[in-house]
This record gives sequence, C-alpha cells and structure tokens, in this order.
Amino acid sequence: MKNLLITGGCGFIGSNFIRFLFYETDFDGKVINVDKLTYCADPDSLNTIEKRYPDRYHLIRGDIADHEFMEEVFKRYEIDAVCNFAAQSHVDRAIVDPSEFISTNIVGTYCLLECVRKLSRFYLFHQVSTDEVYGSIEMERVKEDAPFRPTNPYSASKASADHLVRSYANTYGLPITISHSSNNLGPYQFPEKLVPLTILNALEERPIPIYGDGRNIRDWLYVEDNCRAIWMIMCEGKRGQNYNVGSERETENLELVSLLCDILDSIRRPKGIRQRRGLIRFIKDRPGHDRRYAMDCSKIKRELGWSPKYGIEEALDLTIRWYLGNLRWVEMMKKRLNGWIKSHYGKEFL
Ligand code: TYD
Repeated sequence: MKNLLITGGCGFIGSNFIRFLFYETDFDGKVINVDKLTYCADPDSLNTIEKRYPDRYHLIRGDIADHEFMEEVFKRYEIDAVCNFAAQSHVDRAIVDPSEFISTNIVGTYCLLECVRKLSRFYLFHQVSTDEVYGSIEMERVKEDAPFRPTNPYSASKASADHLVRSYANTYGLPITISHSSNNLGPYQFPEKLVPLTILNALEERPIPIYGDGRNIRDWLYVEDNCRAIWMIMCEGKRGQNYNVGSERETENLELVSLLCDILDSIRRPKGIRQRRGLIRFIKDRPGHDRRYAMDCSKIKRELGWSPKYGIEEALDLTIRWYLGNLRWVEMMKKRLNGWIKSHYGKEFL
C-alpha cells in the first residue's frame, strides 16, 4: 500500500481513521483523501496532519460518484489501495430523502469499483460498512455469513454497495475486505447522531429526545477501536472476506442516554436541575425503527486478535470530555444543522 485513497476522510470515522493511521501505525505511504465536503465534513480536523505531513497527505474535494473525476484521481496519484468511508449515514435523513444515499453510497461505490477494475496492480479495496445491513435481529447474534435484510433506505443503500463490492471480487477477482461495524461514538461525530445530540442537549439542560420507548438495542463501539479493526483487516484480513466489528455489549437507548447524563453530571454539575436524566423525553418513534442490532464478532477476535480496548463508560467519558473541550467546533457544527433539528424534533430540542 503506497498510495491509499481514503474516501470521506473528512467525516467522523474517516477523519479519526486518518489520524489513527498517521499517529498509531507504521504506514509510511501517501493518503489521498477525496471528500465531497458536505454538511458533516470538517477538513480542519486534519489540519495538523496536513501541516506535519505535506508530502504524504492530500485532500481533494470531489464526489466519488463522478466517474471522470475519480478516474483522474486514480491516474494522477497512482492509487493502489482504497478504503471507502464516503457515505451518507443518518437514517432519519434517509427516511426524509433517500436520493443522496443512493448516489453516494451505491453509485459512488460502483464508480470506485469501476476505477479499480481497470488497474493492473492493486492491493486492496476495503469497504466500510455497518451492522445495519443485517437488519433487526430477534434471536442469536449474527455472524458474517448471515443474509442481508436491510430495512430502511440507508441500510439498503449500504447493503447494495456491499453486494457490489462482493460481486466485483467474485467476478473480476478484486482483492476486497468489508468491515461491518456497530454504532460508533467518539470525537468529531456530527451532532445529529444520538450521542453528540444528547451531550449537547444535556449540557445546555434542554430536553433530550428518545424515540419510542427507548428500548431499542444498539452495540456501541469507541471510534478508535473501529479504526484499529479496519486497519488490522486491511493489513491482515483474508481477501474476499467480511468482518463484524462491535463491542458485543447490548445497550438499550434509554440506558445509554441515562449513563451519559450521569457521567456528564459527575463531570459538570447541572445548574438548573438536579439530574440531567430528568431531561429525557420520549418522542414519536422513527418509522420502521430497527429494534435490535447484535453481531457476533468472534471472527475478527479469533483470526486477527482484535478486541475493543474501551468499555462503554470509558468511551462515553472520553467522548463527553472531547465535546466539552471543543465547544468552538460544536458551535460551528450546530450552525450546519440548518433547521434539521427544528423540522425533525420541534424547536425545544437544541
Ligand atoms: P443513531 O445515532 O441515529 O444511529 P442508528 O440509527 O444508525 O443506529 O441512533 C442510535 C439509536 O438512537 C437509534 O435506535 C435511534 C435512537 N435515537 C433516538 O432515540 N433519539 C434521537 O434523537 C436519535 C438521533 C436517535
């Protein structure tokens, strides 16, 4: 891997991955970061990398679904590996308007695969995916060979992309790997997602919205653990394989939000109320809201020796402290929410 194309490198997981790559691994090649710089992207979060590694880090603004543009990038930078983070990822936005999810997540992945198919020397195409492709899980945790049963336009778009990636491996012999990670939390997550949205509302002692009865189950993973998993898969994972990446700890949304409130209370005492838990409000459920995501992650543990370093409490603590220490970033991102909160939740939230 000499010239690694990272797509969506200015987004939440992508930017954490680039920092991880430069600071925590022995990777000594170049990173070419192609990002469309949409509402949740922040190129400034990589300023220190840009300054420190001017010859090894290049940011290019562009759309992975623009085939001509991507062909040019592949040629100019002699790309020999891809890690595809670029995606529209917020389920609630996909429910309002799926179009961008289809173009970035499906057509974008297809364009990248077409660029790669024409290369004679290519190391790896890694697709960053999600546990949501397996759909809502009723019984046992799903393993990597479970069928895809996506239930909303977001998860359907990610499942489609994964199918395309697999099909290019099978048909054209492309060296690929796929990671299906569970819900991530950590620095630089855009405040439309549950964890940062809750931190901001709790901090300002505003109502905290929870959909439905709050008993939906997610498996929360600190973003650094996911970055390490992705890098291990890229370096040592078996080609043609997919890997589940999660903490295997099932948490109901109400439990997560309550825990977050308690940790924040202990770091910074609330002013106008006794406990931030009291801010929780149950609101109208998300349409088609998946009840439970639960993956079996024994494969990556067994084959690659990966396991998460951070438990949920530590992950929440680190995340809360990061947001508290980066309130300027938060203010900038809040402006970009652009009426989303008001139209989606009503004006008392955020
Ligand atoms: P989210 O962060 O949007 O991730 P995903 O839907 O991809 O899992 O939401 C995590 C869980 O929290 C999910 O069950 C939906 C729920 N949720 C709320 O209860 N309230 C909210 O305001 C948001 C954004 C999410």
